[in-house]
Amino acid sequence: MTNKITAAITAVGGYVPEDRLTNADLEKMVDTTDEWIRTRTGVEERRILKGEGKATSDMVVPAVQELCRKRGIEPSEIDCLIVGTVTPDMVFPSTANLACHKLGAVNAWGFDLAAACSGFLYSLSVGAALIESGRYKKVVVVGADKMSSIIDYTDRATCIIFGDGAGAVLLEPSTDPESGIIDSILRSDGGGAPHLHMKAGGSLNPASHETVDKKMHYAYQEGQPVFKAAVKGMADVSYELLERNNLTGDDIAWLVPHQANKRIIDATADRIGLSHDKVMLNIQRFGNTTAATIPLCLWEWESQLKKGDNLVLAAFGGGFTWGAIWVKWAY
Ligand code: COA
Repeated sequence: MTNKITAAITAVGGYVPEDRLTNADLEKMVDTTDEWIRTRTGVEERRILKGEGKATSDMVVPAVQELCRKRGIEPSEIDCLIVGTVTPDMVFPSTANLACHKLGAVNAWGFDLAAACSGFLYSLSVGAALIESGRYKKVVVVGADKMSSIIDYTDRATCIIFGDGAGAVLLEPSTDPESGIIDSILRSDGGGAPHLHMKAGGSLNPASHETVDKKMHYAYQEGQPVFKAAVKGMADVSYELLERNNLTGDDIAWLVPHQANKRIIDATADRIGLSHDKVMLNIQRFGNTTAATIPLCLWEWESQLKKGDNLVLAAFGGGFTWGAIWVKWAY
């Protein structure tokens, strides 16, 4: 009997733009203070992709190039590229399509997956299923967002959180039961849409002078209801994932949480009984990069991870969408 195939993460790449937007910069733009932003969110600065003609795919490309370099493969060896994003370069072609062209990933197909801040988790689950099916050997999963392209920098409740970035992982088949994506719980509730959405630019409200005048092409967020749903959703699903696999906080090497607000992250860690020094946290430097937060954490912590480490990846975002994934680190 052959061992079951799991999808193992075998390399990580990341990219954050050089330009910084600090709390001091925001103090000059909206009625806020460094103190308020730090204590209510944990964010100190974010990275912003600047430059004419620069789009999300321009962050995807260096992240994937780094991953290929580390693994010693050419982009032409990639079978499929999935990009979790809500800020695609354009509605079509997909960001994945454009990025494959820029990368020279000539043998890959791919697509974008829109699940807001849960975009990486949803994409990782789909990518893992492609590997587990036995049909694909190298699937790259990216979370990438240029949030600065849809943020209203006069809206102090929203502009303080978000930043730009991209993170990528390579998935390959493994028959080692001690490595790979082991279990996941993913959830969706479109009833949360009124609290976090972009009003125009889709088929409901196509772009017009009116949609621009009414600022309908920006991310709209009602902070409090999203905050309450996020605290409950992210903690509940992480707890459920551990419980159904007979794991406790003691078994977990790292919580890899979506970086939306430090208070949401702390609540999740407390619920699963994990000390805060086992929580990956870079919200202070990068803010909320939407689909990129989790792979950017993996990118930054890669050198500290050991084969067999149990990781819980957890996210909550627009939709509402949320979930948690149990990963056994493969290298
Ligand atoms: N600076 C100063 N004051 C601000 C402010 C800012 N940047 N933004 C809002 N305020 C004010 C509000 O106007 C309000 O004032 P009032 O009491 O006089 O009406 C007060 O601060 C509290 O506002 P509130 O919206 O309740 O703040 P909050 O503690 O909920 O924090 C968020 C706001 C957005 C940081 C928080 O709600 C949040 O993180 N939400 C979830 C985000 C998230 O997870 N998104 C999903 C993934 S993207």
